[in-house]
Amino acid sequence: SQLEWSLEQAELGDYPHYLIKEIHEQPSILRSIAMTQGENATTLAEMMRASYGTFFIGCGTAANAALTGQYLFSRIARFHVNFAVGSEFGYLEHFLTPQSLVIALSQSGETIDVIEPLIKAKKEKGVQVAALVNVLGSTLYRMADFSVLLGAGPEKCVLATKSYTAKLAVLLMTAYALDGRLDEGKELVLRAADGVEELLRDGIRDKVEALAERIYDREHIFLIGRGLSYSSALEAALKIKEVTYIHAEGFAGGELKHGVIALIEQGTPCIVFAPSDETQAAILSGAQELKARGGFIIGISPKCSDVFDYWIPVADVGDASPIVNAVPAQLLAYCLSIKRGTDPDKPRNLAKSVTVK
Ligand code: G6P
Repeated sequence: SQLEWSLEQAELGDYPHYLIKEIHEQPSILRSIAMTQGENATTLAEMMRASYGTFFIGCGTAANAALTGQYLFSRIARFHVNFAVGSEFGYLEHFLTPQSLVIALSQSGETIDVIEPLIKAKKEKGVQVAALVNVLGSTLYRMADFSVLLGAGPEKCVLATKSYTAKLAVLLMTAYALDGRLDEGKELVLRAADGVEELLRDGIRDKVEALAERIYDREHIFLIGRGLSYSSALEAALKIKEVTYIHAEGFAGGELKHGVIALIEQGTPCIVFAPSDETQAAILSGAQELKARGGFIIGISPKCSDVFDYWIPVADVGDASPIVNAVPAQLLAYCLSIKRGTDPDKPRNLAKSVTVK
């Protein structure tokens, strides 16, 4: 109706789509998380310390955030976390006890593949449940023993963007809180917010648009990352797939030689996440192998490298690299979608939240 239309226009402001609007909301959300989520991060860290075995679960983008969390807790807090996608968690329940802590990540708080195994684990094994969730009063919000409300604001686009970086920010702060260095965690989230703002301000859009122009008609896109950036590759691939219907596959850099390299042809776009951390040398040598087979190498990195055919510079933000890594990939998914004439806000076959099996 006309009324809905005008409300929507009002909400969208100057943006043509929710996807691009929500991408642009990220710096201010990250800043507000740094300022307001310290207490929640501390409580969550205390629950983790008191538990005997912690699980992170989620689906889709939330699963990618959960996987990032596993790496963050290992490197920052030297704390082991188990990870499973929601739909697989039920098959790993055998070791759960009342001392187990399950931390469920979900934008909507309604995803059945998360809720169903959680209900069972709670009822049959007596596990503790914590939640990172964006919707107040949602099923997950209500059933958890402790819920962190992400505060990313309503996410209308089917593609998760701001709820993803919000989860990463809370996980980062929690890992630092667990190591007794919450203030450093906050500082890092603020640095990441600046890094994201820089990306959105400094003409990166033109660079990404030009890239989209070059690769929009390709059938396959491959993405690699290692360590903290492994999940960046998975999440970037998911964003591209969801909204462009191009086959995009993310994988761990070290897995290249174990099969995927067979698929690289002349001009195949390969996106390489190369933050300034201990993975950089190895990922660049993987990129070299892709290039030798004809791959068109797109580097997302604070530092340019000879191996890159195309470079998208991002800020060096240490352990917060997954936050800045996410943004060029979100923008690329958007630009590719416009170029291919798909609907950036409502991709075919997808629902914002899947509440039935
Ligand atoms: C759906 C959406 C995805 C989302 C996933 C999990 O499949 O299409 O974008 O990541 O659900 O949603 P949640 O609300 O649990 O984060």
